[in-house]
Amino acid sequence: MTELLEVRDLSVQFDTDEGVVEAVDAVSFGVRAGEILGVVGESGSGKSVNALAILRLVRPPGRIVGGQVRFEGEDLLTLSEEEMRAVRGARISMVFQSPRTALNPVLTVGRQIARLFELHRGASRRDARRRTLEMLTRVGIAEPERRARQYAHQLSGGMCQRVMIAMALATSPRLLLADEPTTGLDVSIAAQVLELLRDLGRRTGAAIVLITHDLGVVAEVCDRVTVMHAGQLVEVADVRTLFARPLHPYTQALVRAIPRIDQDVAMEPIPGAVPSLLMPPPGCRYADRCPRVLDVCRRERPALLVAAPEHEVACHAVEREGAVAIR
Ligand SMILES: Nc1ncnc2c1ncn2[C@@H]1O[C@H](COP(=O)(O)OP(=O)(O)OP(=O)(O)O)[C@@H](O)[C@H]1O
Ligand SMILES: [Mg+2]
Repeated sequence: MTELLEVRDLSVQFDTDEGVVEAVDAVSFGVRAGEILGVVGESGSGKSVNALAILRLVRPPGRIVGGQVRFEGEDLLTLSEEEMRAVRGARISMVFQSPRTALNPVLTVGRQIARLFELHRGASRRDARRRTLEMLTRVGIAEPERRARQYAHQLSGGMCQRVMIAMALATSPRLLLADEPTTGLDVSIAAQVLELLRDLGRRTGAAIVLITHDLGVVAEVCDRVTVMHAGQLVEVADVRTLFARPLHPYTQALVRAIPRIDQDVAMEPIPGAVPSLLMPPPGCRYADRCPRVLDVCRRERPALLVAAPEHEVACHAVEREGAVAIR
């Protein structure tokens, strides 16, 4: 299948007073046209930094130290800053993790959306306003005229999230990076936001990268899933396989930690804590938490291997059982 986005060996570091924080370590994955790809992993696993790096929005002291981000045939890491501005918001857009702080506090939300139509689609002010109201209606905002005149601080969290999504979709991007778009929303609003994303993906054919802590959300809306642990990508699979036959011990622990309302069993917490990313030792970063750890795990980083069609895993223990190398 054609890959819309292909990330190869992407690495991001933060230079801090204490040393180098290796937040994203040689991550490789593809996003296919029209799919919803989930990105899961505990807090601090590098999900947001990875997404920001795709758009080259990592701020100092963070920097991209290696890799490629191929999007529709060109490596975004080689573009000029000006060329990159034409990609952001137009061909790839992002719903940021904290929508209220990502919105501009001194512009009305209507003006923020309208500016995108003016800037990226050459719309007149009047046309941009009309399309803004349409967009607010599409994301389920009642009284769009009144809401368009308001500022971010006057809106609820769910409303800010919808405005962010309206902004992200205003220019019909080919790819939407949605970072925890439902976190902090109450359950029914969260369900509406997910339905909105899914529907817009279906209607426009845009691919969506959905970053979330919530495996329930993943099961509900994603086609495929990537699992990140401590800045490394440990497993990629189609959603059914990921839940039915997770191979990486970390993914297995994540799946076991899902609260089950249908069964009377307590969920099992994931053992240990996410390791420090400050000058981490070589090898697999799950080694200290892993029930299947081998000597080699502390020496060598496992490569991402094909275990089955639509299923890749980076684990020495699984490799010993016969996964096939591709990368
Ligand atoms: N400005 C910074 N300075 C130093 N380290 C940073 C900075 N920003 C991020 N990091 C490091 O990058 C790592 C990855 O952070 P990131 O925000 O991508 O995690 P995440 O998976 O999105 O977590 P969450 O689920 O909490 O949103 C963190 O562990 C943190 O140590
Ligand atoms: Mg994050």
